[in-house]
Amino acid sequence: MVFFFMFGMLQGMRIVGGNQLNGEIEISGAKNLALPALVASILTSDKMIYKNVPNLADVKSLLELLACFGTEINYEGIHTLALSSRNIKSAIAPYDFVRKMRASILVLGALIARCGIATVSLPGGCAIGTRGVDLHIRALELMGADISIENGYIKANTAKGLTGCDITFPVVTVTGTENILMAAVLARGTTRLINAAMEPEVEAFCELLRKMGAKITGAGTSVITIEGVNELCGTEFEIIPDRIEAGTYAIATAVTNGQVLLKNCKYEHLTSFFETLNLAGISCEKKENGVLVYRREADIHPISIQTAPYPGFPTDLQAQYTVLMSLANGSSSITENIFENRFMHIPELARMGADITIHGKTAVVNGVEKLTGAQVMATDLRASVSLVIAGLVAEGETIVNRLYHLDRGYENIEEKLNHCGAKVERFDV
Ligand code: UD1
Repeated sequence: MVFFFMFGMLQGMRIVGGNQLNGEIEISGAKNLALPALVASILTSDKMIYKNVPNLADVKSLLELLACFGTEINYEGIHTLALSSRNIKSAIAPYDFVRKMRASILVLGALIARCGIATVSLPGGCAIGTRGVDLHIRALELMGADISIENGYIKANTAKGLTGCDITFPVVTVTGTENILMAAVLARGTTRLINAAMEPEVEAFCELLRKMGAKITGAGTSVITIEGVNELCGTEFEIIPDRIEAGTYAIATAVTNGQVLLKNCKYEHLTSFFETLNLAGISCEKKENGVLVYRREADIHPISIQTAPYPGFPTDLQAQYTVLMSLANGSSSITENIFENRFMHIPELARMGADITIHGKTAVVNGVEKLTGAQVMATDLRASVSLVIAGLVAEGETIVNRLYHLDRGYENIEEKLNHCGAKVERFDV
């Protein structure tokens, strides 16, 4: 097995602020689809081919976990992967692999569907909140799995196999929906997921399962119906563009007052976000091959937002949007409804001159005229990139430490930014 990754644990990023972004940025494949899609290879003994897989640390972590189960992994190019789970030799997901990435919990549904048993480490704490997996567990229990928690592991088995039923999620959960989809495609009878996640990645994931032979209706709506089948087959599948990466570069373009074509970006995957930017004075024009972003007016208007499950404003763009609002001509509020601890970028932005106060789950942002470069510490993936964006527009030099968070979700970020005129470099600490 060959990995083409070099993700520096001990690296930082130096950004010289004040350079406009102009040109084109090619959007990579969506991390949040690649992860469940690769896990779905466990559901079949046939070969799966994945195209447009982003070259990211999170993908590497997941592949290392799949290799523990006996999945054979071959790169057929930097973004094309062939996976074969012909022989599953273990249904145990060890702590050392799962702790690196919460999305590893996705293997629970797939392993129990394929093997009838699964032992998966609890993902544990996460920087952006408690992020339980209780809804995943409860849904599998409703489908007939016996589940216990022992020594930090979820131990699941189904002596008689899983049986379809109605499952109502009390809150929308993206990986919860994907996990139970994988359990349900090979279960006996019909499963209905009520209050299911409607994110484009979930819809595309259903499309992948359908290509493998699953019977699924209602993908992209809040009720997904799955009729279990006896087996699934291999297929070829292309990962959709990463809407969060696209939204991130849209904000980087807006704050630097540049003009960038986000190549491959699908406008309809980010409608509420682009509409908000539009209100803020940023044009986001749908083009044949992407979305063109530029500032329509000299000032950035303050526009308040609340994060919400799709089709609402994505929580994964909240930190980046906070940087935009920190430079707006007035005050706005930003309410984080999905995760309880997702404002860790704010104290760091304050060190760069932003005027933001936190009141519970709402941040009140008073726009300032400029940000100034500083040494800042990245705490999670989206917080990290928000600091990079702040550095692009800040006066002077910004150093972002703990770069490994960025490499979890942004492929070739410095190349993409520098290609458009930024001055960004990575250095070893
Ligand atoms: C996914 C995305 C992540 C995004 C998030 C929300 C992937 C790999 N990650 O994360 O980038 O920020 O959706 O759009 O796709 N919850 C529970 N119990 C559960 C499951 C969830 O209480 O069993 C809560 C969570 O704590 C959170 C909310 O539900 O408050 C939504 O979480 P969820 O949609 O599950 O997030 P992830 O799937 O982990």
